[in-house]
Amino acid sequence: MTADQEKKQAALEAVKFIKDNMVVGLGTGSTAKHMIEAVGDLVKNGMNLTCVPSSDATEKLARELGITIVELHEVDTIDVTIDGADEFDDNFQLIKGGGGALLREKILAWNTAYNIIIADSSKDVQKLGAFKLPVEVIPFATKQIFNYLQAEGLKPVQRMKEELPYRTDENNNILDIDISGVNDLQSLEIKLLKVPGIVETGLFLNTTSLIIVGKEGGPVVKHRN
Ligand code: A5P
Repeated sequence: MTADQEKKQAALEAVKFIKDNMVVGLGTGSTAKHMIEAVGDLVKNGMNLTCVPSSDATEKLARELGITIVELHEVDTIDVTIDGADEFDDNFQLIKGGGGALLREKILAWNTAYNIIIADSSKDVQKLGAFKLPVEVIPFATKQIFNYLQAEGLKPVQRMKEELPYRTDENNNILDIDISGVNDLQSLEIKLLKVPGIVETGLFLNTTSLIIVGKEGGPVVKHRN
């Protein structure tokens, strides 16, 4: 199977958890795209769903597919959110934000009763950190935070797009950092979030209930203990 076939298989398995009248959080990225298309099919087949998107790109695709979109403040809670990940480990810890949507994704995850991560098998790692951790920062403080992260040995790289600093949907910058040498992720998360101007990190340490991985022979469904 190709990685994309694995992504699609995981996405199709995940949408089985969506039931009529649910509020559904829609993730962002190439894996989530398969899920959004499958949600579009559910809606076409008559299911009544209210969906909250995690990015402008996801919102655009969902609207094109006829999915009912609302803003987060229009719902009390989200029943289920389905999203991708850049890496996950055996403890259901994730790195997210490769596509730049980490802030809204993390807000959706926090406000969701049941978070499902869908992924191809390459995202399954023993230790997080081969993928650089995205850190969303306010442009006013990007340079100072860059210097701080460098002094901490985290080798920041400012994300760029067409030779200009990348801007998220919330108009912030992203610094991608190297956490391959970090063992205590909880402490790193607390330390980073104390820095004024760091808005959020792509570490999702405690929100995921289920991980579905596409694999030859059928999807692997991992439940959090
Ligand atoms: C978006 O910002 C990310 O958090 C994505 O969920 C993550 O990068 C996975 O993306 P793919 O499904 O495209 O690999």
